[in-house]
Amino acid sequence: MKPKRVITYGTFDMFHIGHLNLLNRLASLGDELIVAVSTDEFNALKGKKTLIPYEQRAEIVRNLKCVNRVIAEESWEQKQEDIKRLDIDLFAMGDDWKGKFDFLKPQCEVVYLPRTEDVSTTELKVALNEFLQEHGAGFGI
Ligand code: CTP
Repeated sequence: MKPKRVITYGTFDMFHIGHLNLLNRLASLGDELIVAVSTDEFNALKGKKTLIPYEQRAEIVRNLKCVNRVIAEESWEQKQEDIKRLDIDLFAMGDDWKGKFDFLKPQCEVVYLPRTEDVSTTELKVALNEFLQEHGAGFGI
């Protein structure tokens, strides 16, 4: 039987436990997990600035045990083409995207998984900012 292929898309900046939990759960839903990591150029288009450059974010995700392959996410429009080209069975995202990709349902199964609570890249950036304000930028150096 053909292996069940799962795909997800994201930035994965300042890689955290919410990212890991999501990718581990996605891997358990199929046989192969493909992760499309947003490039710096695509993030700029979305008005998002990352702390960690694309090559490093992609390298971290590529080296996770639960991930079989990383591709670049360079545009909003590529999903339909990726699903066809990579023979994807399941498209999955965290539930902050609930309903947003239902238009892919004619092509493959689409699911939204609950996010891990109380952690996100945005929250980490806020916490880091507060930490530096409290302790000073030279803390521990
Ligand atoms: N995600 C998750 N649980 C979290 C944070 C993220 O399941 N606590 C999921 C998102 O739903 C998405 C994927 O991880 O499917 C990649 O999310 P990304 O936007 O890169 O991470 P965030 O931490 O949500 O980043 P930001 O705060 O910049 O939106």
